[in-house]
Amino acid sequence: MATIKAAILGFGTVGQGIYHILNEKREELKNKLGIELEVAKILVTDASRERVPGTAHLMTTSMDDVLAEPGMQVVFEAIVNEEPAYSYLKRAVEHKCHVITANKVMFAKRGLELQALAKVNGVFVGYEATTAGGVPVIKTMKNILLVNDVSRIQGILNGTSNYILTKMRAEGCTFEEALKEAQSLGYAEADPYNDISGQDAFKKLMILSALAFDEQPDWADVEVIGIDSISPAQVQEANDKGLRYRHVAEVERLDNGNIVAKVGPQLVDKEHPLYPVDDVNNAVALETNYIGTLTLIGPGAGMYPTASVMVEDYAEIIGKRAGFVVTI
Ligand SMILES: NC(=O)c1ccc[n+]([C@@H]2O[C@H](COP(=O)([O-])OP(=O)(O)OC[C@H]3O[C@@H](n4cnc5c(N)ncnc54)[C@H](OP(=O)(O)O)[C@@H]3O)[C@@H](O)[C@H]2O)c1
Repeated sequence: MATIKAAILGFGTVGQGIYHILNEKREELKNKLGIELEVAKILVTDASRERVPGTAHLMTTSMDDVLAEPGMQVVFEAIVNEEPAYSYLKRAVEHKCHVITANKVMFAKRGLELQALAKVNGVFVGYEATTAGGVPVIKTMKNILLVNDVSRIQGILNGTSNYILTKMRAEGCTFEEALKEAQSLGYAEADPYNDISGQDAFKKLMILSALAFDEQPDWADVEVIGIDSISPAQVQEANDKGLRYRHVAEVERLDNGNIVAKVGPQLVDKEHPLYPVDDVNNAVALETNYIGTLTLIGPGAGMYPTASVMVEDYAEIIGKRAGFVVTI
């Protein structure tokens, strides 16, 4: 059986999730793909700490070490922030490795660049995990875009914000009470700034914009408003009128070709595709010329939804890659 070597960059929540899924699904993936995947390196900042029993010998802090591994062909990236993630993936692509990332901060800014570089080097970039977690929005959009034009995207792209707005409406909580509960359930980070300020949703929206329109609006022109100023009284008043607050990230191409985007709370009525999307769910409504409006709804994030779509990206790459080079 042929073997492909892979590296995991970043071994926190998502990185460990990838490792567990690859182990749990080892036989199944082998049978389905006809190829065995071996995790040969794991890159972290502190290689002395063994996070998962049996992985100490795989740990490294050096990208040189990762790329020096003979037969390295796939790099999963689950580090935080733009750098050194981008530089590592650039090197991996130049080394003819396929790369699969969950890093939305890096990909929102450098994704188009990385994909152009990957094209030149004949490798693939998987980035389903960057946006809307377990909702297969990237692969669905890629398919749709083969025939349709997407004119507008509206999304609930941050599960924490959506959870807070749902709690405020359903239980009459204040923003602070709902946030505390989201944190105690592990939905919100200890520092929830990126979630509630709209910055997290903004990064995901820019990734969708690049995919749908091949470009992004100038980031400085995009108004990004969070949900922290919404009061329980406003939520109640909206509810009484049959309306719901949703934190909507939206981007559209105008008739003059300009791309415009905004992120912020919006009141939606029963007819709106995002009206029924509650709790930590994410959703993306795509307006297209032939299909009409298509709405995808599902779990936004977490270790396994995120890691599993990265492994799906890997399987898709293997499937697509006729004449994939394998070491035996
Ligand atoms: N958690 C989710 O549900 C989720 C969902 C979608 C996307 N994402 C994205 O996935 C990525 C990883 O998220 P996470 O929740 O798994 O983060 P995490 O638990 O904080 O893990 C981050 C990992 O990256 C490593 N790391 C950080 N800086 C590094 C550097 N300069 N060089 C090498 N390794 C470095 C850390 O190493 P040490 O262990 O040595 O500190 C750690 O293992 C992020 O970009 C995040 O936005 C996460």
